[in-house]
This record gives sequence, structure tokens and C-alpha cells, in this order.
Amino acid sequence: MSTDAGSLDALLTEDRMFPPPPDFAGRSLVTDAEIYTRAAADREAFWSEWAAELHWFEPWTTVLEWEPPYAKWFVGGKLNVSYNCLDRHLDGPKAKQQALIWEGEPGDTRTFTYEELYVEVCAFGNALKGLGVTKGDRVTIYLPMVPEAAIAMLACARIGAIHSVVFGGFSPESLSDRNNDAAAKVLITADGGWRRGGIVPLKANADAALASSPTIEHVVVVRRGGALSDQVDATMLAGRDHWYHELVAAAPSDCEPESMDAEDTLFILYTSGTTGKPKGVVHTTGGYLTQVAATTKLVFDLQEDDVYWCTADVGWITGHSYIVYGPLANGTRVLMYEGAPDTPDRGRFWELCEKYGVTVFYTAPTAIRAFMQWGDDWPAKFDLSRLRLLGTVGEPINPEAWMWYQKAIGGGRCPIVDTWWQTETGAIMITPLPGITATKPGTATRAFPGIDVSIMNDAGDATNAGYLAITSPWPSMLRTVWGDDQRYRDTYWSRWDNVYFPGDGAKIDSDGYLWILGRVDDVLNVAGHRIGTMEVESALVDHPAVAEAAVVGKTHDIKGQSIAAFVTLRDAFPSSDALLTEIRDHVGIKIGAIAKPEMIVFTADLPKTRSGKIMRRLLRDIAEGRAVGDTTTLADPTVVAKLQAMHAEDES
Ligand code: WTA
Repeated sequence: MSTDAGSLDALLTEDRMFPPPPDFAGRSLVTDAEIYTRAAADREAFWSEWAAELHWFEPWTTVLEWEPPYAKWFVGGKLNVSYNCLDRHLDGPKAKQQALIWEGEPGDTRTFTYEELYVEVCAFGNALKGLGVTKGDRVTIYLPMVPEAAIAMLACARIGAIHSVVFGGFSPESLSDRNNDAAAKVLITADGGWRRGGIVPLKANADAALASSPTIEHVVVVRRGGALSDQVDATMLAGRDHWYHELVAAAPSDCEPESMDAEDTLFILYTSGTTGKPKGVVHTTGGYLTQVAATTKLVFDLQEDDVYWCTADVGWITGHSYIVYGPLANGTRVLMYEGAPDTPDRGRFWELCEKYGVTVFYTAPTAIRAFMQWGDDWPAKFDLSRLRLLGTVGEPINPEAWMWYQKAIGGGRCPIVDTWWQTETGAIMITPLPGITATKPGTATRAFPGIDVSIMNDAGDATNAGYLAITSPWPSMLRTVWGDDQRYRDTYWSRWDNVYFPGDGAKIDSDGYLWILGRVDDVLNVAGHRIGTMEVESALVDHPAVAEAAVVGKTHDIKGQSIAAFVTLRDAFPSSDALLTEIRDHVGIKIGAIAKPEMIVFTADLPKTRSGKIMRRLLRDIAEGRAVGDTTTLADPTVVAKLQAMHAEDES
């Protein structure tokens, strides 16, 4: 857990309360707390009311079949996610309303009305069919933040193909691992994307991955356009590689939506766990869309005139649920931005908020801490008066950052929704409802209506401080780990009987508010991204000079956590700065730049128990520069002293 006991006590005595501002509450969608009691009285009835808001080709016969740990929601129902996000809005004025408003990092723009987005999705759906993609096939999407990322997801959903979006910052090796695990047939990529003024060469990375992705038969390449495409010359392999724009130009623009079973898989999304191998989290159709649509509407209090911006990347679950599916299912205007918040300058996000009149803004604590460090002057230069609601997700937000967000961005008038959820939960689980919940800086407050959470100890007894637990199945829950039911059961359902274990620690305060304390397993949260310590360790020992490695999280002002690695070298390799850089870069090559350790300490030994288990707690203490606790169980007590001495040298 990243939060130490002292600061936790401070959090729990946090007594600043922010009731919903009257102006906001007055026009909010939820004005009565009876929604909680109503949902609790009959959870299944509550969720079926939300499901009924969607368009079904055939109704479901049973709301929930629960054979722990396997749930089926809206059994027998048939629907299509892209139909619900697009076709449904075409009968009325929404057809001509903006659906997707896109801005590239260099300032180029593209917008799509619902009708235009529909045409584009249909055409690309047909293009995929033309490449032989059929229902149930897997399609990898490895794109920058361009409209085609959303279009490709919706096109897969339309024809019943299962998408697996891989974040554009992942390395070729991470990409081929995911291609292979899912046995994907088609890969969709781009010639490149802009990031901090530089070009991310996605097609070149994809080519490197394709050398070891035997299941991929076709590659579709989006031309990013503008100066980028003038500078990058993507090599196209005849027969395998196809330009997106050529396929779409040749494709008919009428594409029947596939009638999908509520429990058909919509997508796989890989996420880090406690082993070296990421898990393919499987989400299905009916329950996923129901909870994603319901939470988008109520948590962000969507109104007809909203312009909604979620700053996540589509490569993460937040991008799936709250850039693409939730907002489009609700027919809102979605802003999508390609680039970094500090390019060309640190006012970029606020410039975009002003330019497009953003009303709802959803970002991550790591970004908020960076903005806070950049100072109040940047947001103060822009007119942010249209903003009415702010959101945060991805890690616990420290009260200071919360207060700053509330004042400097929200002008003191916008409620903040701190939303707790995970790749596995698919949708928001713990959150304020902005029209009725009095918020406190640092807590995600309470479970969304219809969601049952508890805090439990190892024995499964309810307690005020322990592990977060989800005690009933929920519509957007993961259904399994792709190809690995055993891992699904072991990871999430083995700690207690029929209760889901999310891997987070939590406490509850005297108002009944939940305080999420961070991961309790070997998963780090670096700048809001989940990275498994084992994954980084595997990448480190893959380097020929490394004999053994242990990775822990270290508190970081902006990123929340950074990665610290303790590395034992093989005898033939003397330590040097050059080797250190090489090893760090090796992690970037194996996983991606986000996983590169910020600190690497070479050590002759690692502190281990007599049974040979690495004592990470001690390593964490050392990395944090804290006094080291009990070392009596160590096989060799001198290791710690040596390590501390070495670390002190490293820091100086
Ligand atoms: C953490 C991101 C505290 C938590 C949607 C969880 C949070 C992990 C919050 C999931 C929050 C997410 N407060 N912690 N509001 N939101 N987390 O799968 O540790 O990338 O288990 O999903 O992020 O990360 P993931």
C-alpha cells in the first residue's frame, strides 16, 4: 500500500465537506437519495430498468444467472453495441449533432456528427468483413488517439468481432504477446501519431511485432495525415498491409449490425497482474453496455448541451468505457485529443476546454498533480467558465490535489466525482452522485446504486479497515480471463467465498465513506497505469547481465508511484552507468517506456527470508529512505545494511 499510516490518519480526519452547489443540484439528473434504497431493495430490477434504456433486438428472459464465479446478465437478450451508440440516435435531431470532436496535437481538427460517424463505422465494418473478419474473430487495435480508434472499436462491435486495443506506448514485444494470446486475425495500426512534438512510429513497431505474430493475416494502416504522413514512409507489405482510407473508400456504407447475444464477448483488454504475463480481461455485451451507459449518465450527470472530455487513452479501460461506449450510448458530444497536456505548452488542456466549451472534464490524479506543479497561471489564462463537473480516476487522489482541482480548474463551483473502478469492473463502482453526494477531498465516497461493496479481513468478516470486496455480481463485471478460467478464479475469487477481490486496500470513515488506499498485491500504479512488479522483473532478468531482480514501488510526487529495481548482476558483468542505462532501456524494449524503472540499484544480494522469499517490504523501506523494520527473519541480515549504503550512494 502506498499510503502510510500517518497520512492515512490525516485523511480519515478530513472534515472538509462539499455539498453539491445549489445551482448544480437544481438541474441535476439525480436529486433524491432514494435511488440507493430503491436499487438495494431490488438490484436486478434496478439494472433491468437501465438495460431497458438500450435498444434490444430480442428481449432477455432472465436478468441474472449467477453460478459463482460466473455471471450471465440479461440472458437470452440480443443487441448490438454499435447500434446502441449510433443507429439509435439517427431518427431525431441527434443525427446532425456532433458525436466526436477531435483535435490532433499539432492543432488539426476533425469532427463527426452521429450520422457521419455511423457512415464511417459501417464502411469500416464492411472493410473488415472484406478481409475475412467474422463474428468472434479477434482484431488488435494499435492506434494513436485518432478518430479511427473509436471507429475501429465500433466497427468490430458492429460485425461481432472482438477487439483487443493495445496502448500505443507498448513495445513491439508487448504487442506480439497480445496478438498471440488472443490469436488475433487482423491488426489495425497507423503510420504514426504525435506525442510531445515527436512521432510515435506505430507501423514500424507493428512490423517488428508482426515478425512474431503468426496469426495476423491482414494489417490495416491508418494514414495519420498532415505533416506526420509526409515525414513517415510506412512500408506496406503487398497482400498483407492495406491503407485504411483505400479500404473504406471501396466499401459499401450500409452494414447490418450483427445481432449479438448479451453474453457474447465485446472485447478483451490486457492488464497487468501479479505474474509476468498480462491477463486478457474479457467483457461481454449487454451487461457491460448497461452499466457503462448508466454510470456515464448519472455520474457525469449528462445534459443535452454537454461537451464531454475524458483525457484517457483508448488503450486503457477508461478510454473504452468513458470515451467511446458510455458517452456515445448516451448521445453526447465527445472531445478526443491526440497529444500531451504540455505540447506546445502547459496551457494546452485549458485552451481546448475554452475552445470547445467543455462542460464535463474527466482526468487522472497524476495529471492534476502535474497541473498543480505547473501553477495556477496556466488555467487562469483561459475561460473555463463552461466547466460544470470534474472527474478523477485511476488512483487515490491526495486532498491537496483535490482542493487545487476544485479551485483552480473548477472555480469552486464544480462538484468533483472521484470514481473508483478497474479494468475488471468495466464501469464505475464507487463514486459520488454529483447532485446529491456531499464530497470530501480524497474519498470516492460510496458504491454506485445497485453495487454492493464491503471491506473485509482475511477471514471474510466485515471490518472498518482491510481489503475492498465486491459482494454481489454486477452487470459490467469481467466474465473471465481470456483462455484462462483458472487464473480468473484464482486471482479474483479465491480469497473469500463468492466475493470478488479487487486487490485494493480500503477503510471506511464515520460517515460511511470509503477511502481507497491503493493496491495490496504486487501491482504498481505508475501515473495511473497498472504495472505488475513481476512483469518488470521478468523484463529485467531477460537482460543477459541480470541474474536476479526485485521491483518495488516508490512514492512519487507526480506519478503517485515510480518503479524502483534492485538488480543483482551476473559475475561476468561489472556494474557501470552504461550498463544501468542499457538495462533500463531493455525494460522499455520488452514492455514499453511506461515500465522503465526510475531507480535501479545494483546489489550483490537481495534480502531474502530463510525460505528464499524476497522481502519486498524491506526493499520498499530502502527505496523510500525509511528506517528498516524487523529483519529477524532474514537469511543474511547484513544484506540490508549493504543495500542501504549502496542506495545512499546512488541518491547522492
Ligand atoms: C486504482 C482504471 C483510488 C485502484 C479505471 C484500482 C483508484 C486500479 C481509483 C485499477 C480511485 C482506480 N481511487 N484508486 N478513484 N480508480 N484506482 O485497471 O488501485 O487501470 O484497483 O482501471 O486503479 O486500475 P485500472
